[in-house]
Amino acid sequence: MTGGNQYIQANTNGTLHSASQPTLSPLNRGFLYGDAVYEVWRSYDKGIFAWEEHWARLHSSARSIHLEIPWTADYIRDQVCRTAAEFRKHSLYRDDIYIRLQIYRGEGAIGLDTALSSEPGFVILIKPVPGISPEVRNHGNRLIIAQSIRRNPVQSLDPAWKTGNYLNNIMGLREARDRKADDVLFLNMAGELTEASTSNVAFIQGDRWITPSLGSGILAGITRATIIATVAKSAGLTVKERSVSPNEINHFDEAMLLSTTKDVQPVGRIDDFVYRVDAAAKLWRLKAVFEDHARGASAKRPELKV
Ligand code: PDD
Repeated sequence: MTGGNQYIQANTNGTLHSASQPTLSPLNRGFLYGDAVYEVWRSYDKGIFAWEEHWARLHSSARSIHLEIPWTADYIRDQVCRTAAEFRKHSLYRDDIYIRLQIYRGEGAIGLDTALSSEPGFVILIKPVPGISPEVRNHGNRLIIAQSIRRNPVQSLDPAWKTGNYLNNIMGLREARDRKADDVLFLNMAGELTEASTSNVAFIQGDRWITPSLGSGILAGITRATIIATVAKSAGLTVKERSVSPNEINHFDEAMLLSTTKDVQPVGRIDDFVYRVDAAAKLWRLKAVFEDHARGASAKRPELKV
């Protein structure tokens, strides 16, 4: 028996095992080149949220790198449910879970040519959903705008593709850590704001909810899309997707990070500019409406219970 906060359950191509046990070949192309795609889901009240949306984005990422996914969504969902059940058995953890699915192109002789690859394989990882720390809840995330690196241009490794190669994001986060910040905001090659290392970003100005447009070169986040589709309006905010300049950051009242694992998380500071995160900040209402929406949507889907 392992403590619920440490144990990570893995499933490699249908074999259940602890994530601390190795299973992949050293010739795996995901390991050698980041030649892989992935998605992260989470559950709300033990129902997987936005299963179809993440599955569609996984296919879109795979198509972009010319990788054909050989399994149906139902097969992978069944594997996720098996893995979750095993996780709960080992950890005795009862709460909501984090689900990561990575699909690698295959393995084979060393070389970049995709023709060298065997068939694709998958790895599912399950652990508890990370919580929000009291520090972040009370003071918000501290962000810096990266000076050493920009977001990959859309003409290169397009940020819209969720691939196994996050080295650009890792380098940005490293700069943030060096500068004593929690996370990084990247500019694109035109000098516009894009997103953070593993989240989208948005701002509130009056009753407007403002977020960099997809054209800025970002991942089309599902949290972001859910807020745009329904949640912002229910929280009394008008959505504005547009190019955002770093010169504007001191015009906004509030700032937030958006992702599956964070949902809506306050940003307290970008470089030297400070945002409100007190109980009256509008982002808390947005967060509450988002969580209600996610719980409601997940509760309607018994086949997605984990
Ligand atoms: N990250 N931007 C980037 C670069 C991301 O990696 C993510 C997700 C997002 C937000 O997307 P979504 O709302 O669909 O989760 C934006 C996941 C959570 C991760 O890598 O852990």
